[in-house]
Amino acid sequence: MTSPVRLALLGCGTVGSEVVRLLHEQSADLAARIGAPLEIAGIAVRRVGRDRGDLPVDPGLFTTDPLGLIKRDDVDVVVEVVGGIEPARSWLVEALRAGKSVVTANKALLAEDGAALHDAAAEGGADLYYEASVAGAIPLLRPLRESLHGDRINRVTGIVNGTTNFILSAMDATGAGFAEALEEATELGYAEADPTADVEGFDAAAKAAILASLAFHTRVARPTCTGRASPR
Ligand SMILES: NC(=O)c1ccc[n+]([C@@H]2O[C@H](COP(=O)([O-])OP(=O)(O)OC[C@H]3O[C@@H](n4cnc5c(N)ncnc54)[C@H](OP(=O)(O)O)[C@@H]3O)[C@@H](O)[C@H]2O)c1
Repeated sequence: MTSPVRLALLGCGTVGSEVVRLLHEQSADLAARIGAPLEIAGIAVRRVGRDRGDLPVDPGLFTTDPLGLIKRDDVDVVVEVVGGIEPARSWLVEALRAGKSVVTANKALLAEDGAALHDAAAEGGADLYYEASVAGAIPLLRPLRESLHGDRINRVTGIVNGTTNFILSAMDATGAGFAEALEEATELGYAEADPTADVEGFDAAAKAAILASLAFHTRVARPTCTGRASPR
């Protein structure tokens, strides 16, 4: 029997709990495709005692010590779905430098300081994947990184923020005002309780920085408060 690939999952909120569910529901299929079973070695969260409903996972896997989990010898890959800049950056730099590959959905961190992660990955000889950080359901980042790597890209266009897309479409279609459309987006679960990142454009800016970095082979950090993107 091939040894399992052991995952440290950092975060078990909206995204992390679905990662757990999919790993559980699709374990046989994933093992067949990967050639080894995928196992969760531990899950770092803020509140171990939080009610996580019917999540199909051993409660004994939860910990509040992400660094301790990352450093364990039986952890091969680190999956980060916590979000924010710190402490996520320190955890991922630690993992990558130690040669543990990282999968992250953290667009804010990639846009703010993707360079720190790429440098740590190069130092540790580890892989850094972040397909889910921009348009997760669309094969976009990997084709930019790999298939189109030798091509010259002149322009990248698209709608990258689903919440504002919903709000603008609703305003256009029904004549609703912004506040009304935002309320509807919140009721339907498209907008988060605090919609600042979406409606102020921070989410779209982070995604644009990640896309521009890949498409134009440079390092673009998210816009500063002056609204100007800064090359890194
Ligand atoms: N939500 C989406 O639709 C979506 C889509 C694409 C990408 N993303 C990205 O995915 C990431 C996660 O988003 P989310 O919506 O799943 O967030 P979330 O629901 O707020 O979950 C965050 C998780 O991180 C844990 N956490 C927070 N601070 C921590 C700390 N200091 N130490 C250990 N654990 C900590 C929380 O623990 P507790 O459970 O104990 O509170 C929770 O499990 C973000 O980078 C986000 O930008 C999200």
